[in-house]
Amino acid sequence: MKPKKIIKNWSVPKGQELTEFDKKVLAFQNRGELVPKRKLIKTPEQIEGIRRSGVVNTGVLDLIEREIHIGMSTAEIDRLVYEYTTDHGAIPAPLNYEGFPKSVCTSINEVVCHGIPSDDEILEEGDIINVDVSTILDGYYSDASRMFILGETTPEKAKLVRVAKECLEIGQAAAKPWGFVGDIGKAIAKHAHANGFSVVRDLCGHGVGLAFHEDPEVDHYNTHRNGMLLVPGMVFTIEPMINMGTWEVFVDEEDDWTIVTEDELPSAQWEHTFVMTEHGLEILTH
Ligand code: MF3
Ligand code: CO
Repeated sequence: MKPKKIIKNWSVPKGQELTEFDKKVLAFQNRGELVPKRKLIKTPEQIEGIRRSGVVNTGVLDLIEREIHIGMSTAEIDRLVYEYTTDHGAIPAPLNYEGFPKSVCTSINEVVCHGIPSDDEILEEGDIINVDVSTILDGYYSDASRMFILGETTPEKAKLVRVAKECLEIGQAAAKPWGFVGDIGKAIAKHAHANGFSVVRDLCGHGVGLAFHEDPEVDHYNTHRNGMLLVPGMVFTIEPMINMGTWEVFVDEEDDWTIVTEDELPSAQWEHTFVMTEHGLEILTH
């Protein structure tokens, strides 16, 4: 049998005294658990920078919450996001990110995420839409999304929106300092399944702060693995995508961005950026 190689993400410079913190992380690493690289542990200054970015990000979402209405195009949402963000000295992170053409993702009904705003897409009564906003302020990234219901929708779609929000809250509560990323998806999947819904597997939450997407990957389903150790100072998103039907999704071939449910049944998602503290997760995008 071949011994499993331990990934040595955590190292201490030669000759440097081990802190209690180092010892704690190294104990997990020596047991074969996946631990973060040191650079994933943000300094208090970096956390404050991400928090300031999060204030602008929340301002954008609050503006959309006030302005969104039936008859509006998703391109109008995009323009509001661009104007508010730049007026506040910040940059919309999606714009030109890996070729993404707009400032925000707008994902209606069966669109899971990464929908591209368009003048031709008009919000209708009963639509459920995810508006996913990400902001760069002074080099610091924040990322959050909310669902909005246009007028009256069906009880099933309203339930999907509610349960998706509960999944985010349950994921937040499941993430404990010195616990594991895997605890998050396990708790989320249990709640989604208990309500008759499924969890998207092909997209995950992520570390964030100094870049748009950092380690760790945060799965929202039960991988039956621990995943990365959760260490105070880590900053990451939880953003469960919950489907009414199958968990399977496909990428729209026309734009290569829009993610759609395989059965074209509705999907809902909520997202926050969190920092892990000694007492649990704190929201940076309130
Ligand atoms: N905001 C998305 C996330 O939650 C990422 C969108 S990438 C983009 O990670 F290019 F589509 F904006
Ligand atoms: Co995200």
